[in-house]
Amino acid sequence: MYYTNAKQKLDSLRDRNDYLILAFESSCDETAVAVTRGREVLSSVISSQIEIHKRFGGVVPEIASRNHALAIDSITKEALEKAGVTLADIDVIAVTYGAGLLGALLVGVSYAKSLAYTLGLPLVACNHIKGHIAANYISAPELEPPFVCLLASGGHTYILKVNAFDDMEVLGETQDDAVGEAFDKVARVLGLPYPGGPEIDRLAKLGKPVYKLPRAFKGEKHLNFSYSGLKTAVINLVANTKARGGEIVPEDLACSFQTEATGVLVDHTIEACKRTGIKTIALAGGVGANSCLRDSLVSAGNKLGFKVLLPPKSLCTDNAAMIGVCAYEEIKAGIAPAELTLDADPAL
Ligand code: KG4
Ligand code: ZN
Repeated sequence: MYYTNAKQKLDSLRDRNDYLILAFESSCDETAVAVTRGREVLSSVISSQIEIHKRFGGVVPEIASRNHALAIDSITKEALEKAGVTLADIDVIAVTYGAGLLGALLVGVSYAKSLAYTLGLPLVACNHIKGHIAANYISAPELEPPFVCLLASGGHTYILKVNAFDDMEVLGETQDDAVGEAFDKVARVLGLPYPGGPEIDRLAKLGKPVYKLPRAFKGEKHLNFSYSGLKTAVINLVANTKARGGEIVPEDLACSFQTEATGVLVDHTIEACKRTGIKTIALAGGVGANSCLRDSLVSAGNKLGFKVLLPPKSLCTDNAAMIGVCAYEEIKAGIAPAELTLDADPAL
């Protein structure tokens, strides 16, 4: 009975853009809840656990789930209050069900399922990666496919050809570490706190790219990435310099690493545009907040007359507004509501 009603309700909303979505994101170390309408964000509340995980040098999954469970109820109330609405005004519940940490995802999924059931509302299960892409629709509501999307986060590195929200092709992907993971690992080698990306970004502004670091797949035709060689080169450089009694200049190493790590992203994205004939580039994911990446993507893109969309940094890192807008796009594209048996899928 619940499902039949939920399906009917979702079908009645497909051609509209004036209904409210309450969205949840808890895939990693941010508990986030948002209220969205179409591509508009009425409220977006994020409770970050960075300070909690900092002392461990990275996210501890069990601690992340416990803190999501502690935060989600009050964050939900805050998101509703900030949007000036109550649960009675909500039409759809949306939630990230993967990819991410199993226990962390389960907190959002269970909470969203229980709300959907008690309120008799359709539940839309969202893919975290598609959520990151949807963040571009918030800052550029006029955006329509086709576009090339560079998605660079802590868990994923992709160049995607977005033909439609339910039709995306992978043009390039990492063969090992994600670029954000490489930032975090290199930061650790430099003795910087978690999360390393913003720390390297800050430090690199004070340095010069004087250290020579390798480019993976040089001369190859494909648009894939590999970050494990670059990471190992940095680790070896630090170890060998120390063994010789020398000193690394952290600002210069941060700058050299960042220049290489983001340079290959920019080169492959521009090449993807040339190959597909697409002239619009969208940026997504936490590493999309990197200032060097943002600047060089815009300057490389503009030189060739491409339109480069940069969502604000707060929409690049994890948030629930992108999940609300992702659900809206999925509803338009014809997604069926999730069953109440929905499970988290860490490897989605
Ligand atoms: O998208 P996100 O918030 O979570 C995942 O889905 O993974 O991305 C987190 C990643 C972390 O690796 C973090 O170090 C990186 O994004 N990051 C940055 C910056 N801000 C966050 N990397 C480079 N420069 C930044 N400014
Ligand atoms: Zn993310």
